Amino acid sequence: MSKTNIIMITSCKGGVGKTTVCANLGMTLAKLGKKTLMLDCDFGMRCLDLVCGLEDRCMYDLCDVVVRHISYDKAIVRDERSENLYFLAAPYRYENDIEPSDFKSFIDGVSQALELDYILIDTHGGNGPEIELGAAVCDTALIVATHQSASLRAAERTNQRLCDLGVPKTQLIINCFDADGVKSGDMPGIIDIIDKTSVKLIGVIPTDHTFVLAQRSGKLVDSFGITNTVRAFFNIALRLEGMSIPLMKDFKKTDRRIILK
Ligand SMILES: Nc1ncnc2c1ncn2[C@@H]1O[C@H](COP(=O)(O)OP(=O)(O)O)[C@@H](O)[C@H]1O
Ligand SMILES: [Mg+2]
Repeated sequence: MSKTNIIMITSCKGGVGKTTVCANLGMTLAKLGKKTLMLDCDFGMRCLDLVCGLEDRCMYDLCDVVVRHISYDKAIVRDERSENLYFLAAPYRYENDIEPSDFKSFIDGVSQALELDYILIDTHGGNGPEIELGAAVCDTALIVATHQSASLRAAERTNQRLCDLGVPKTQLIINCFDADGVKSGDMPGIIDIIDKTSVKLIGVIPTDHTFVLAQRSGKLVDSFGITNTVRAFFNIALRLEGMSIPLMKDFKKTDRRIILK
């Protein structure tokens, strides 16, 4: 069995799209045939279960498994939309009761038992305990930023913090990319962002209000046709798989020459 790829999805800002990225990237990887566990580590603000439409199926959470020794097969939910997709909820209340060594044993154990290709860890926007837990186990951190200078600057700070915590690899996702803003000269284009940021860019996700509406009923990428947003998630997933894919490969109706300026 190949090694499980452990990916923490993070940022030191809230509301930039971490949970949206985790849910939709999880579904995309599952649709590509990769066995994927989405782990909600946004302690206290748990909402990945809602975004995935799995709230009614979650009886137990991560603390039940790691601290109270409930077996993970009772706690982990299999998503009915893909046999490759699994989910474990965050606790509603967290009292710093997960030891990093116990968290690591859980990650190692569940990776092997379920023969997982990926674990995606959704985190809180900030500097809470989940960042240290995630940093102790992850191979890669995906830093999510929106297409705003303040958010990009926050991504730089997040990157520094993750490097200090010893995270082996960090990559940047620009969410809510505003193509019209780039065309009108109000927003930086992708080349500009790459020039000004030290974190390597792995993907660009457009602003897409249909995603916001879909989230209200727990719908993910699998319920859409082929849109630019869906392609963006596939492109990121294929890059995680080590493929060399142009940033906006197969995007429709996008003048890439302008946006890439
Ligand atoms: N690409 C996008 N286009 C439009 N809205 C988005 C996009 N990504 C996220 N959102 C919206 O932004 C809000 C915050 O997203 P969320 O994933 O909860 O952020 P975080 O987990 O970083 O706090 C949600 O209402 C979500 O629907
Ligand atoms: Mg979130």
